[in-house]
Order: sequence, then structure tokens, then C-alpha cells
Amino acid sequence: MKLGKVEFCHFLQIIALFLCLSGMNQAELSKSRSKPYFQSGRPRTKRSWVWNQFFVLEEYMGTDPLYVGKLHSDVDKGDGSIKYILSGEGASSIFIIDENTGDIHATKRLDREEQAYYTLRAQALDRLTNKPVEPESEFVIKIQDINDNEPKFLDGPYTAGVPEMSPVGTSVVQVTATDADDPTYGNSARVVYSILQGQPYFSVEPKTGIIKTALPNMDREAKDQYLLVIQAKDMVGQNGGLSGTTSVTVTLTDVNDNPPRFPRRSYQYNVPESLPVASVVARIKAADADVGPNAEMEYKIVDGDGLGVFKISVDKDTQEGIITIQKELDFEAKTSYTLRIEAANKHVDSHFQSLGPFSDMTTVKIIVEDVDEPPVFTSRLYSMVVSEAAKVGTIIGTVAAHDPDVSNSPVRYSIDRNTDLERYFNIDANTGVITTAKSLDRETNAVHNITVLAMESQNPAQIGRGYVAITILDINDNAPEFAMEYETTVCENAQPGQVIQKISAVDKDDPPSGHQFYFSLTAEAANNHNFTLQDNKDNTASVLTRRNGFRRQEQSVFYLPIFIVDSGSPSLSSTNTLTIRVCDCDADGIAQTCNAEAYILPAGLSTGALIAILACVLTLLVLVLLIVTMRRRKKEPLIFDEERDIRENIVRYDDEGGGEEDTEAFDMAALRNLNIIRDTKTRRDVTPEIQFLSRPTFKSIPDNVIFREFIWERLKEADVDPCAPPYDSLQTYAFEGNGSVAESLSSLDSISSNSDQNYDYLSDWGPRFKRLADMYGTGPDSFYS
Ligand SMILES: *[C@@H]1O[C@H](CO)[C@@H](O)[C@H](O)[C@H]1NC(C)=O
Ligand SMILES: *[C@@H]1O[C@H](CO)[C@@H](O)[C@H](O)[C@H]1NC(C)=O
Repeated sequence: MKLGKVEFCHFLQIIALFLCLSGMNQAELSKSRSKPYFQSGRPRTKRSWVWNQFFVLEEYMGTDPLYVGKLHSDVDKGDGSIKYILSGEGASSIFIIDENTGDIHATKRLDREEQAYYTLRAQALDRLTNKPVEPESEFVIKIQDINDNEPKFLDGPYTAGVPEMSPVGTSVVQVTATDADDPTYGNSARVVYSILQGQPYFSVEPKTGIIKTALPNMDREAKDQYLLVIQAKDMVGQNGGLSGTTSVTVTLTDVNDNPPRFPRRSYQYNVPESLPVASVVARIKAADADVGPNAEMEYKIVDGDGLGVFKISVDKDTQEGIITIQKELDFEAKTSYTLRIEAANKHVDSHFQSLGPFSDMTTVKIIVEDVDEPPVFTSRLYSMVVSEAAKVGTIIGTVAAHDPDVSNSPVRYSIDRNTDLERYFNIDANTGVITTAKSLDRETNAVHNITVLAMESQNPAQIGRGYVAITILDINDNAPEFAMEYETTVCENAQPGQVIQKISAVDKDDPPSGHQFYFSLTAEAANNHNFTLQDNKDNTASVLTRRNGFRRQEQSVFYLPIFIVDSGSPSLSSTNTLTIRVCDCDADGIAQTCNAEAYILPAGLSTGALIAILACVLTLLVLVLLIVTMRRRKKEPLIFDEERDIRENIVRYDDEGGGEEDTEAFDMAALRNLNIIRDTKTRRDVTPEIQFLSRPTFKSIPDNVIFREFIWERLKEADVDPCAPPYDSLQTYAFEGNGSVAESLSSLDSISSNSDQNYDYLSDWGPRFKRLADMYGTGPDSFYS
């Protein structure tokens, strides 16, 4: 402060008091500037306070208020007429002023780190007038720092990592301590770092707090973690400075400084020869002190006689080498293998390769153990062929198996009967020759896959398996037949030469060059004036009309016997009968009414089932009327035609039970098929006349009881048969009569004796009986004779 320049400050002397560290001494600096001012002779001017700073030491511990300083005005003559007043920050709470003397005291302990200075205002008033004798002025009380804060590590404790084997002086981490004391004043905030724990491995730079490695070759595998204690001390580390500490956990991170090493120079494993391919033979592991990727391993077979037979791969989790079989072992061929196996680190640090190769070798010896093995067939699958015409005992082929063991015990053959349930084949137990044991049918089974067994005669538990596919060669043993049941009609207005049906044929045989069929009318029908047949030479034939003027009333059904021959050698043939119904057609040749009306009924019948039933009841009524009429007429020659009509009417009645989709309900042939005793095939070979007029018959009238049993048996059979078509003619019949079936039939016993009564009775019961006969293969014909 240049006092010389403060001449204009003529009223107020500011006395600043400096207090020394003890805080108790005080020096009063007071200077009167009035004299020089007046001497200058300048006009007297009111000037403001000359403000200054007071300094007060923080953290005063005494009991009395701490003296800060004194305000004094020149106007103050010491007579008590001047009053000093203090205002501003902390006035009257922290700082008080003696209004008479101007002495300022601090009443509280002050903390620089809380507030470093206070701005206050001072006033000098005339006690009497209360008028300021000086203008108000501002001044500052500054808090003087003492070293009352120790350094602190705000970010501690620290953790850090450094690679193992790092060179000396590699920095690890920097620690920082902060000191709340005044960094601009003294050394209270000047910190110096030192290491209390962690030597000699680590050091810390005193000024920066950077921690560095202090030893070379620090090995993670020896010790991987260090706990350091770092101290920060203020007052530049001098005695009396305050200090703080922190801990630093330093982890050494792994580097690949350890090569893999097999614990042993050689290993030996025993393996049964039966162990399947891909089985694990052994697991070996090269040790590696490193961790993670630095311990990742690669194994390979570098040498030895087991190359190609064994394989080594690495287990990613355990880093073990897994030796597996790659090719089937055979004790009889080779009894031991030697493998040279190398283990190498996957990731090698070039820095450490000077330590030597990061790989190791070991020898693995594998001893193959003998196992008693089942016989082995010379081939896994034998293919053989045999003609279906082959006689029982024909040799088909030979299989062979041998015991692979050194003992080479003899082998006995057999056929696994589960694969030849019907025992079509035999095998010679000693020679392995397979023969037929039964006649074969290609049409039933074209291929037989059988399993042959070879058993060691000394040890029946050792069974080898071979597979034989026996293909049956076709011979022409099936005659051709119609490809389907043809539903043929001819229109009443048909013209001669009109094609009314195209037919084709099928044959169960399978000739290598395909089928060739030849069609013709049978010799008896060759001069048929009604229809003719034309072979289309493409395995089909056309049936044509030969005349016009077909009349339903005249003849409603024609039967045309057609002869079909196949091209086999020798060829087979059959006669198939085509049934042709005469129909009334519209102009377009669409059948409108045939004699069997059910045949052309539209499929939409279903919509009115009730109406259909009503229609049937009506038909029945008509039928009854018709029968009554017939009985009166008693014209025998009409029996067949009439009877047929009646039968057909009954059949229509059956339609109601057959369901709307049952368009074939009228077909008595289908009903007849229910009778398994009969062979439908035979029907094709009879001429139409024969078929129409004569049916297989019972030669004698059946006994009442037998017949009743027969019917009930059939009834039961039909009831339980899930495959039977849904004809309910059986039920219909049962409900229709008054009294039991058997009873009504029983009256037939007398028929043969009384022809008149007989016919009357038949025309009454005829329809039912006829149906019954059709179903069970007994025609009414037999009862007429
Ligand atoms: C026989 O085996 C062959 C394959 O081996 C197979 O394709 C064929 O369906 C088998 N035949 C029979 C009848 O099991
Ligand atoms: C051809 O039709 C007439 C008239 O219906 C018939 O009398 C004759 O028996 C039929 N011929 C053959 C071979 O069916």
C-alpha cells in the first residue's frame, strides 16, 4: 500500500490489524493523514471511506470473540459523539462492532473452505443527529487459510490391470487426491504421493500419482493380484502435513507366456474291435498355465500308423483332445496303433516365442482287443429271381457267411421266419442254398424280402444277418377280363351301326412287353343279328347295334358274350357277358326310361326321401294289384317276364333302405355277391341262356329247420359284416311278412304235390322268395321242378 497516494483520505484512518498464527497478537496500524492533506491547501472535500481488507484466521478455537480490527473516523474526537454501524454479510451475526470504539470482533469460528471472504459496509453516524458523518463504504474481511483439510482420493479405491511380464515403468493407473485448502496460499494444498504398500512391485510418481510397475517379469501364474496402498500428503509431504490414503487393486492380465505341455510322454488305451466308428477312444489334455484364449489348444495326429483310422478333435470347453475311431477296427487285421500327437496353442504371442515352440508332442498307443464277432455275409443284400411257375424245391440262389474271428467256427443258416411268415422258402442250414417251399404267385407277392441268419455253431448267440430280395418272375396265369362292370343301354330309337359301348380289358399278369388283348363275340353269338363287336386293335373294342327297332316290351335285356384273349404264351382267354338294357330315349339318345327304372332315376332323389317312400308304397299297392290279376289269369308262360317285373318292383322298394346314393340297389348280382360261397367269376363263363334260365340250385327242397338256420346265419353274418353294402333287404324282408320267414317257407313243403295251389302260392309269395333265393343262391326254379 502506497500511503503517499492516499492523501485524499483525510477523515478516516483504517487500521488493519494483522494477527499472527496464534491469533492473539494484534498490531494496530494507524496513521493520520489529516496533516498532509491540510498542508496541501486543497479545498476540503468529503471523501468516502477508504476501504481496505481485514484478514482473519479461520478455525479460531478460543472462547472470546476474535478481534478482527478497528474502524476509526477522523471526525471522531473520542468524545463519544460518533457511532459506528456495520451492515452486510454476516453483520451482527458473525461480525459485531463496538459502536463507540469501532472494534470489530468475529463471534463464530470461521471456515475458509466454507466462505473465503465477507463483504461488509461501515457507517459513521452522529450520535445526536443520527446523520452520517461519512458516506457509507464497503470493505472485505478475508478469511486466512490454515491447513485444516487433508488430501482426499475422491475416486478411490481403484482397480486396475496390467499385462503380466510388462517391462519396468509400465504405467498402471493414475490416482489423484484433492485438498480443500487454499491452493494459492502456502503449501496446505500441495500434495505429494507415496506408496505405503505394494513395493517392490509397484511405484508411484510423487507429483503425478501415476502408478508404475517396478519389477520385471511379474508372472500372473505366480501371483495375479496385488493390493497397493497409496498415500497423499500435503505441505509438500513435509512433517506436519495432513495425509490421506487409498487402495489400488492391480490385477495382472494373462499373456500367452506358457506353452502347452503334455503331462506324460506316452499314453496307452485298450479298445475292443467292435467299438463302432465315431466312438471316443481317449481324451488327452496338454496342460497350459495360461487362461482363456491363451490356453486354447489345437491337436493333430502328426505321425504314426493310425492316420486315417483315428481322428483327433478338440473339446472347446475343456481344451481336451478327443481321439475317435474313423474306420472300423479289426483285431484280425491289426492289433495296435501308435499315434504321434501334437498339441499347440491356437493363439501364440510372437513376443514370447523366443521361450521355445508353443507346442508339445506325445505318443498314444491304442491296443485293439479281440471280440467274438457274429458271422458276416459275403454281401449285405442278395438279389435273386425265380419264376412263379417254379416247382416246390427249385433252387433260387445261395448265400454265404463266415465267422470273422480267428477261430473261424462253422456257420449254420436259417431264415428269419418273421420275414417269411408263410414259409415260401427254405434254406439249407449247411450250404446256404435257398429253395422254394411252396408254389409262388407273383400276383399276390411280386417281391419277397427275407432275412437270412448265420449262426456260429459253437456260439449260437453270435448271429449275423443277410438280406435277400427275391423277385418273382411273371408267367401268364391270369385270363383277361372286363376292366369294369359295364352299364350298357341301347335306345329303342337306335340306328344300326351305332356304337353303344366301348369296352376294355385288364389282366393281373404283368408281361414285360405290356398287354395285348383280342376281342370277339363267342362262336354262338357270331351270327347275332342284334349286336356286333369291333376290335379296335388298341386293347379296346366297340359294341355296335346291328339293327334298329329295339322294343322294351319285346325284350328288355340282352346278354352279349364277349371273348377276350391275351397275348401270353400260351395265351389265356375268357368269356365275359355284357348286359345291354333297352331304354326309351329322347331325341338326343339320352335314356329316359329303362325297364329297370331305378337305373335311370336321377341322383337328386335324395331330396325327397319321404316322397320316395310314398312312391314305393304306391308301387307296392300296384304290385299287389298286379299279383291279384296274375293269379286270376294263371298264365304260366308269362311267369318269367312277370316275375322279373315283380322282382324289380320289390327291388325299387329296397332302394329306400339303400340310401339315395345307392343307385345299384336293383342289381341282384351285387346282392348275390354277399354270398361268399359263390364265385362271381364263374358267371362270366356261362352263356346268357344258361345264366338266365338256370342257376346253381338245391336239388332237394331244404328242410324247414335247416333253411331257417341258414337264414338266421346269413342275417347274423350280414349284421356283423362291416364291409357289406348297406342293402337292408334282409331287414325289409323280415318286417314285410306276417309271421316268421321260416313259417312262411314251411308251407312250401306241400308245393310240389299240388301244382295249382303251388303256383298260386308262389305268385303270392314269389317276389319275397325270389329275392331270398337270389341272395342265398337258391332260385325258385328248383321249386318248380
Ligand atoms: C423289399 O425291400 C426293398 C428295398 O430293399 C423295398 O423297396 C421293397 O418295398 C421291399 N418289398 C417288400 C414287399 O417289403
Ligand atoms: C335278337 O333279338 C330278337 C328280338 O328281340 C330275339 O328274338 C333274338 O333272340 C335276339 N338274338 C340274340 C342272339 O340275342
